Amino acid sequence: MAILLDGKALGLAIRETVKHDVDTILRETGVTPHLAVILVGDDPASQTYVKGKENACRNAGIRSTVIREPADVTESKLLSDIDALNADPDVHGILLQLPIPKHLDPDRIIPKIDVRKDVDGFTPENVAALANGRPRLVPCTPRGVMRVLDHYGIAVAGKDCVVVGRSQIVGKPMAALLLNGNGTVTVCHSKTRDLRVETRRADILVVAIGKTRMIDASYIKPGAVVIDVGISKVDGVIAGDVDFDSARTVAGWITPVPGGIGPMTIACLLENTLVCCRSLIGGPHD
Ligand code: GUN
Repeated sequence: MAILLDGKALGLAIRETVKHDVDTILRETGVTPHLAVILVGDDPASQTYVKGKENACRNAGIRSTVIREPADVTESKLLSDIDALNADPDVHGILLQLPIPKHLDPDRIIPKIDVRKDVDGFTPENVAALANGRPRLVPCTPRGVMRVLDHYGIAVAGKDCVVVGRSQIVGKPMAALLLNGNGTVTVCHSKTRDLRVETRRADILVVAIGKTRMIDASYIKPGAVVIDVGISKVDGVIAGDVDFDSARTVAGWITPVPGGIGPMTIACLLENTLVCCRSLIGGPHD
């Protein structure tokens, strides 16, 4: 039976450290780190995620502001929101909650976020820095995955790493981080010819496809590390992209859902907010 990779416990430990660092920054500089979140429309999942981010900020002593815009907001209004946040010296991190409504193009909006306040690591400059192997601000979910691997002493170098999913938010930055860690990386997606053949080669399998419980034991090499980034609700039950009960019989290590990567994403968002705050106020970097 697989060993559980407990992202909940690790996430809480990181949040404690962040809280301590927030206190230190406040004591030494008088500055309270401040994250601004822009939430467009009323997508229930996004509302829940943003609530979670607000709560986590509050518990860590980070100030948070949520700017709510209606689903039919114009691009120019969003750009003026971002301009105002960029110009506000009291704001250290800016996050545009995704997805945004179809009439808006994230690729026209995200690049306007000040790279120094880009807590998601989604601006072209930060994406390029990661791809070039000199990461600055790194997307929170893939960073959370790397933190889990590191914490449990799971080496990436030389391993066959398979990432299922190629989103900008998870799959692509995940592949870049694993590659930077000297893994041998394969990225699979909807056009991959035989997914099972690919995933069964993986020493480290990261799944982010948004298909509830799709990856069962038949996709997993015995003893593999299985990281489930998916999260969905079916019949009131929270589940991942991995069929946990089946996969845990074959995997060597596995993240549960909930309690795996979700809490790590939030913990890494808080850390990124501190990184931004420190660099903006000229304090020491982590
Ligand atoms: N929606 C789902 N995950 C994320 C994330 O990491 N950042 C943002 N901005 N939106 C998301």
